[in-house]
Amino acid sequence: MWLYKFLDIPQLPPELEQRVMELYQTPDRESQLINNNSYANAVKPELAGKTHPKDATAIKNNRTVRNSRGFRYRLDSEVYEWLEKNLTSEYTDCGLSVITGPDGTLIPHTDQTRLYALLYTFDAGGSAVETVYWQEHNKPLERELREFGSDYSQLDPVERVQFPLRTWVLMNTNVMHSVENLVSDRVQIQMGLNAIPESWKYSLVKEI
Ligand SMILES: [Fe+2]
Repeated sequence: MWLYKFLDIPQLPPELEQRVMELYQTPDRESQLINNNSYANAVKPELAGKTHPKDATAIKNNRTVRNSRGFRYRLDSEVYEWLEKNLTSEYTDCGLSVITGPDGTLIPHTDQTRLYALLYTFDAGGSAVETVYWQEHNKPLERELREFGSDYSQLDPVERVQFPLRTWVLMNTNVMHSVENLVSDRVQIQMGLNAIPESWKYSLVKEI
């Protein structure tokens, strides 16, 4: 089973990165929010009874940590045009992702509305930030959508990785994963996918 792959396509052109940074910095960013609090329940109503990310907590080192949130914002149309020309238009959602929160942790979870996520990181959110994949005791490595690991003592790390900046990384978000050691906003483009284009080629594949 693969955990992540580095997709072999060009970096976003500098002038389009500039558009993304302007969106990140604009005071009006919230008007472009894609995934408000009702978004996931609207996309996947069958999962509406599950814990919402805003309410999720986890016990880590005998302390309760509150969840960070991954907010996604609508990008400039020229950025979408580039992404659709160079990657795919068959995505579930795509936007500027800003992961932020009070305790520096996006707690272990599977994604809510998509099976895979393509990431392109502008700012990791700190020099020690890691993406960690987990296996919960007595549970399969691949899980259902919108699951949370609420107690780190019940989780074994299966991979720790610092994704490089300005590199297209495809994540298998069926495997529980967290982001650790955040000290500032984690700023990325994220594209959600339920199927992976067969034409995509990879320069690195991490399997387990
Ligand atoms: Fe995730």
